Amino acid sequence: MARKFFVGGNFKMNGTLSSVKEIVDNLNKAQLDSSVETVIAPPALYLLLVREQAKKEIGVAAQNVFDKPNGAFTGEISVSQLKDSGIDWVILGHSERRTILAESDQTVASKTKYATENGVSVIWCCGESLEQREAGKTLEVIAAQLSALKAQISDWSKIVIAYEPIWAIGTGKVATTEQAQEVHASIRDWLAKEVSQTVSDETRILYGGSVSEKNCKELSKEKDIDGFLVGGASLKPAFVDIINCKA
Ligand code: G3H
Repeated sequence: MARKFFVGGNFKMNGTLSSVKEIVDNLNKAQLDSSVETVIAPPALYLLLVREQAKKEIGVAAQNVFDKPNGAFTGEISVSQLKDSGIDWVILGHSERRTILAESDQTVASKTKYATENGVSVIWCCGESLEQREAGKTLEVIAAQLSALKAQISDWSKIVIAYEPIWAIGTGKVATTEQAQEVHASIRDWLAKEVSQTVSDETRILYGGSVSEKNCKELSKEKDIDGFLVGGASLKPAFVDIINCKA
């Protein structure tokens, strides 16, 4: 089964009511490649607005979710609340949450399990720091993150993996196509060996880290790059060019 190209836009903690509306208007008016799955992730406060205003072909993702049913968890949002609001996706394991909010591999895996088992699909992020890359530990770090995920989940059909080298996020230092392809291929090999050939063949692996309208075309030609998770550029009109990079 061919893997549908996927482009996610992670707004992170950016935007205002008016700028978020403008981004959505721009996407609604644009001719988006229908062979690409597009999902945008605004801050939690704007999820409902974006879901109401974005055209149906555009999916909407939260940037976090809790791994418990509704209850006394101040400040958290539940999976059932996302579903109730028409939000079908969530980003989990982003390096900003792993490092700044101290989310462990186990916490990320637990949230991923809870979301996927309760009907919300996950853009699950992994990636190495510059120090880890320079120490030659990239594949080991990714394998450890994947192993923690595997320890808690059995259904991979609701998971899209995003490989995001931390040193490439928001720095303008995009990984070379070869660097990205090497890690993507190793993730696919890991899935084949540790999960199954079907999961390896069917799971989409996105690249994230300084993706722009200038570098997306080259990256998209690599055989194991099935799309992007875009940060800064998803706030700009050029996000449309990234979505349409295969057209
Ligand atoms: O989630 C998106 C990534 O962190 C990439 O962000 O495109 O601003 O480098 P960036």
